[in-house]
Amino acid sequence: MSKKIKTIGVITPGGDAPGMNTAIRAVVRTAIYNGLKVYGIERGWQGLIDNNIINMELASVSGIINKGGTILHTHRCPEFREKSSRKKAYDNLCAYNIEGLVVIGGDGSLSAAHQLYKDFGIKAINIPASIDNDIYGTDYSIGFDTAVNTALEAIDKIRDTATSHERVFVIEVMGRNNGFIALDVGLTAGAEAIIIPEIPYNLDAIGQKIRYGQQRGKSSFIIVVAEGAIPAEEVAIHLRKRTKLDVRVSILGHMQRGGSPTAISREVACLLGARAVNLLIEGKGGLMVGVLSDRIVETPVEEVARRKKKINLNVYKLANMLAT
Ligand code: F6P
Repeated sequence: MSKKIKTIGVITPGGDAPGMNTAIRAVVRTAIYNGLKVYGIERGWQGLIDNNIINMELASVSGIINKGGTILHTHRCPEFREKSSRKKAYDNLCAYNIEGLVVIGGDGSLSAAHQLYKDFGIKAINIPASIDNDIYGTDYSIGFDTAVNTALEAIDKIRDTATSHERVFVIEVMGRNNGFIALDVGLTAGAEAIIIPEIPYNLDAIGQKIRYGQQRGKSSFIIVVAEGAIPAEEVAIHLRKRTKLDVRVSILGHMQRGGSPTAISREVACLLGARAVNLLIEGKGGLMVGVLSDRIVETPVEEVARRKKKINLNVYKLANMLAT
């Protein structure tokens, strides 16, 4: 039987996501409730290498349940790919007697944590947090629902001006190489076209759809483009050239990563934060916690890293059918 864990660390590496603070709060409070000592690692893996480790008390996480971003800060850290950097990180963990980590982040963070385990045996439980929602093993990653709602609110406003001017708007949303944000936003905004990397697109067909719409008296057209598919400006140039339509571009950018987390982002953060700590207490590691069909599940990190989350083709078809 493995000896009972006494001290854990919590870290938020990679891109921030709304709800990370809610998850930090859940981790810290669950840990303290169970008699564990808990440290916060600031500035992601870079902070672990640089020994930016702080003590967390109940009060350290007061008033953050509704705050966007991460109070622990974050940093992209390519240096962590070097074993020598991971050794520095391991030495710092040892100096604080940190025996297990809760890693709140995306798939890059998950792989980095697993590498740390393979090198030095530090157990980690991963909580999926990324606005992109591209992580296998969970229906929701923390922050996704908030980012979708933020983009949706922006697009609803753009629709007002698009209708007034009878214009076409090409709106670029985030998502790195994936179309999860674009698909959900496209469906819920009633976009006339959705362009995502996972599905081939035909710009001429989109132009034609807009023309038919105009003939039927439609006055505004929204095309949602995932950043990983094609730059929005290229879509606009093509449409202007081929259709002579009045086309404008709007790139929503990093605003999609900010703001107060929605109820869904907070709920996922509370449930997974508490579960992650309990798994460390049970002596487990090398797992990602997630929510699948309303149930909390655990998936081995090797499986999460190996498998690719799929876009729901039926949702894509439905969005196209509804927005005629
Ligand atoms: O992974 C989250 C994300 O916001 C992606 O959607 C986007 O492509 C990327 O991070 C942007 O990263 P950065 O903030 O480092 O420019």
